[in-house]
Amino acid sequence: MRKPIIAANWKMYKNIAQTKEFCNQLKSLMVDNDAESIIFAPFTLLPTLTELLAGTQVAIGAQNFYPVEEGAYTGEISLMMLKDFAVSYVLVGHSERRVLFQEDDALIHQKILAAYDKGFSVILCCGETLEERELGKAKEKCINQIKNALQGLTEEQIAKVVIAYEPIWAIGTGKTATSEDAEDMIGAIRKFLMESFGAQIADRVRILYGGSVKPDNVGELMAQKNIDGALVGGASLEAESYNLLLRYKERM
Ligand code: PGA
Repeated sequence: MRKPIIAANWKMYKNIAQTKEFCNQLKSLMVDNDAESIIFAPFTLLPTLTELLAGTQVAIGAQNFYPVEEGAYTGEISLMMLKDFAVSYVLVGHSERRVLFQEDDALIHQKILAAYDKGFSVILCCGETLEERELGKAKEKCINQIKNALQGLTEEQIAKVVIAYEPIWAIGTGKTATSEDAEDMIGAIRKFLMESFGAQIADRVRILYGGSVKPDNVGELMAQKNIDGALVGGASLEAESYNLLLRYKERM
């Protein structure tokens, strides 16, 4: 059985006061549930989250890092620095990093290797543009991104990776892929994993959907056979809405 994940991607939102308010509200609302909950937060909020989420079910993730030990990399943060906080996950290959900050498949691959080496769990994002979807190239694009990211990893490392399928045209636009389209792509990713690495690995890898997920549509998405969770931007910023996402079962 694959444990579901409901992950929040806060992107470049919130200061410390807003984060304190979120955590206090979430703690007062949250009940035990079977989903793994992760908040990917900006670096400046990691100390606050480490303190306020201690002893809760909510894990903390970093949205970025630079994959070398240390050195002259002005403005960057290393994995060793993240170890000062209760960060267990890192996000890799998000389309905003690929497009706005020119992160390519080679860097993404290096980031995954470095993260595993330092004991972090990884969510690897993939996704196509609207143009690629209209040209019938969506599956090829996503599968190539995954193939390039995972090349040369051990079976154990591949089985541990979490993949997030996030069509670029659905991120922050209010346009969600239909649950059938999301299932179709995620099913194709699982088939690729099966053909490349075997059924045991393909059955273990958790694959999430991301792109305008909200409390209203999370139940339908989570009801799909291959969809193991959601990576949520906008709708994860308010504690009330994030709590509703964690309680997706009530809307399935
Ligand atoms: P969104 O963002 O939920 O605001 O569309 C998702 C993401 O970028 O991870």
